Amino acid sequence: MLSGLFKDTETLVLKTADFITSQLGNIVNQQIETKSLNSLVSFVDKKAEEMLVEGCMKILPEAGFITEEETIEKSADKEWLWIIDPLDGTTNFLHSLPFFSISIALQHRGKTVMGLVCEVNRRELFYAIKNEGAFLNGKRISCSETEKLADSLLATGFPYYDFGKKENYLKFIGDLMPKCRGIRRLGSAALDLAYTACGRFDAFFEYSLAPWDVAAGAFIVEEAGGIVTDFSGGDNYLYGKEIFATNRGINKEMAELLQSHFKD
Ligand code: IPD
Ligand code: CA
Ligand code: CA
Repeated sequence: MLSGLFKDTETLVLKTADFITSQLGNIVNQQIETKSLNSLVSFVDKKAEEMLVEGCMKILPEAGFITEEETIEKSADKEWLWIIDPLDGTTNFLHSLPFFSISIALQHRGKTVMGLVCEVNRRELFYAIKNEGAFLNGKRISCSETEKLADSLLATGFPYYDFGKKENYLKFIGDLMPKCRGIRRLGSAALDLAYTACGRFDAFFEYSLAPWDVAAGAFIVEEAGGIVTDFSGGDNYLYGKEIFATNRGINKEMAELLQSHFKD
């Protein structure tokens, strides 16, 4: 059943990616809304979400939705649930930076069973299906085999509206800098996770993310053999606003450092 659902969802995501591409560079400042501090949205986000919701309703009529732009009422109490971010990396998109994605996850009875993250510009489709593994454009992917933090390339997202843990975050970053090969802030959490799943990054961490930012990407990391937790090592990363995803090799070393900075 999931393979059939996947094929239909893949087609839908690629059609939505075509729409987003067609709008690149078309938005003028007056068409950008600010939802809250530094949280931007345009008609492209909303239209893309409408396309995805309409398509998902046809694919699985009984499913509910959690979506970022709320073009459909939230209905998280259904047996099946779509979790959708129609455009992850809106700020990049609006500034014509080529790193943004579509993120869509499907849950069954509270557990993710399918996740797709599509990097729109390069048409890289990362996806995973429960117990079948993780793939990039049809080829199996897995997390890196890096074993030491010193050999790792890391990704994060800077806080931009919730500065509650800013001091802990900056100290952690400062401590990490000399201990790894580099830290990137590319601007799409869903893609940061997908890149961790295929070994381009060895780890990703960020706080204040929403379920639609991470549901698909976290699942792809897990199916690619990685480890995903909150900052305390627990499993509350979907709704708990803290995510830490790594390969197996550097998890322990990095988790100890992370936990020492976020213990309060
Ligand atoms: C944002 C991106 C970004 C992350 C933000 C997210 P949006 O999503 O994932 O990388 O740092 O916290 O909100 O708003 O572009 O969908
Ligand atoms: Ca997002
Ligand atoms: Ca978004």
